[in-house]
Amino acid sequence: MLDLFATIRYRHSVRRYRTDVSVESEKLHAVLEAACAAPSAGDLQSYQIVVVQDQALRDALRRVSNDQAFLSDAPICLAFCADPGRSAGRFGARGAALYALQDATIAAAYAQLAIVAAGLGSTWVGYFEEAEVSRLLGLHDGLVPVALLSMGYPAELPEPTTRRLLSEVVRYHSA
Ligand SMILES: Cc1cc2nc3c(=O)[nH]c(=O)nc-3n(C[C@H](O)[C@H](O)[C@H](O)COP(=O)(O)O)c2cc1C
Repeated sequence: MLDLFATIRYRHSVRRYRTDVSVESEKLHAVLEAACAAPSAGDLQSYQIVVVQDQALRDALRRVSNDQAFLSDAPICLAFCADPGRSAGRFGARGAALYALQDATIAAAYAQLAIVAAGLGSTWVGYFEEAEVSRLLGLHDGLVPVALLSMGYPAELPEPTTRRLLSEVVRYHSA
């Protein structure tokens, strides 16, 4: 079991997946539980997670996501969808426009870390045709797809990517 800092360090986007092994249902369940453990505004969890395992549907998602091949190669695609209506019920316009989006995003980020801890890999996909993904997933009640995560056993060890310097990103506020 990796500690949290190692998990964060080892998470890199995986874009090549083993096609000869599937993901154990216990691991999928653990990842979904970790996603749902994320904080959310008012503890409302204003999102839905659609688990896509069907090959034909993954192929279709790939086509409406700029033909990113790993989306159909990975055995699972998790679609994180914001539920603005749910958040609006408690928080009005700010809940609909911001909190639901943040809830879905944080859940997806937790899922990405749990995927690494489970010995799997993922890539976050944001480059997709929103209306087409909504149609393919049969979303209704105002659900908005925010992120697709490919998920499976890695067939590559990606090179770590660079990050901006802390000194560029962080400013210590002084009075
Ligand atoms: C909002 C968002 C959208 C992204 N969209 C895509 C995408 O459509 N396709 C892709 O291959 N990677 C996508 N990525 C992954 C980034 O390219 C990747 O996280 C970044 O290059 C850093 O690399 P690392 O994940 O290996 O640390 C996205 C990441 C985020 C957070």
